[in-house]
Amino acid sequence: MAALHRIRIVDGAEFDCGEDERVLLAMERCGADDIGVGCRGGGCGICRIRVVDGDYRTGKMSAEKVSDADRAAGFALACRLYPADDLLIEVT
Ligand code: FES
Repeated sequence: MAALHRIRIVDGAEFDCGEDERVLLAMERCGADDIGVGCRGGGCGICRIRVVDGDYRTGKMSAEKVSDADRAAGFALACRLYPADDLLIEVT
């Protein structure tokens, strides 16, 4: 089984997320609603967050919603975010 990582949201919920699980879906599974949920497919931008601390990888994200500069600054779409470490994230 893939490793579980602890996801903490600044001023919000805390939950576990598998390394192959998307953070947005793990949040929903745990009954939290800190991050907005839209298309769940990397297109609408509603679930945009910033990773404050921790390693992660991302799947395909709309370049219109998260530019290269945004990515470099830690912004990502939670529905396309996979933790590689415990993460601290901020809802933007
Ligand atoms: S829910 Fe639409 S981009 Fe994540």
